[in-house]
Amino acid sequence: MDAYVFLISASYVSATRFRKLADALVEEAPCHAVALRLEGEGQNLWRVLDALAAEGASRIQLRPIGLPFSQSLERWLPRAAASWLHKRGEAAPELFFARPAEEDAGLVRNAARARVPASRIAPLPDGELGKGWDAPPEFRHHLLVCAGPRCHLKDAPHLADVLKDELRRAGVSADCLVTTTGCLFPCNAGPVIVHYPEGHWYRVTAVADVRAVVTKAIGAGAIPRHLLIHRTGDTHEPV
Ligand code: FES
Repeated sequence: MDAYVFLISASYVSATRFRKLADALVEEAPCHAVALRLEGEGQNLWRVLDALAAEGASRIQLRPIGLPFSQSLERWLPRAAASWLHKRGEAAPELFFARPAEEDAGLVRNAARARVPASRIAPLPDGELGKGWDAPPEFRHHLLVCAGPRCHLKDAPHLADVLKDELRRAGVSADCLVTTTGCLFPCNAGPVIVHYPEGHWYRVTAVADVRAVVTKAIGAGAIPRHLLIHRTGDTHEPV
């Protein structure tokens, strides 16, 4: 069985909007297909490949979707897929990586000439400003949760949700600003959460780790040392 995996990089797109595109791609695909989001949420590449292999896929083509598609992802994704192949051993399906869709001149032409409705924009003073955007929020703790593609591959997609749940459970969510970010760089040590103003970088691979960050770092003002990988301002040697 042939299969396509559509790889969608879309950091600032709602789940509903992503789903709409994903469903349309899957429906239009010439063979069995799955669409996955590379950042933020949803199944990661390795899990999707596992599922397709279990369904009997013998040739899987990875198809990057995005205009233009990230060059960094284009370089990294075949390597991440190769790593999955290596782990699977001999029983693995054949894997292929397609050129980005932007190289299809017809698709670009269609995008340029797409027949979509447009609404007229009327003059509006201060239209770029919004309610509640005047001052920094009064949180005591800032937690940066990496939702980049390499942390996503390691099952980080739901990290922000787990963290928010744990903060609520500990009764400290009103003090904490949780922000999902793109890649924070120590991908190999991920999934990563960074806690400011302390400047502590943690590697969190399980719910218990998230809970330790919340109860120790936020609740008790202590450092869960077994999770600490770096302190902002220190040398880049591991702590
Ligand atoms: S993707 Fe998370 S640190 Fe790079």
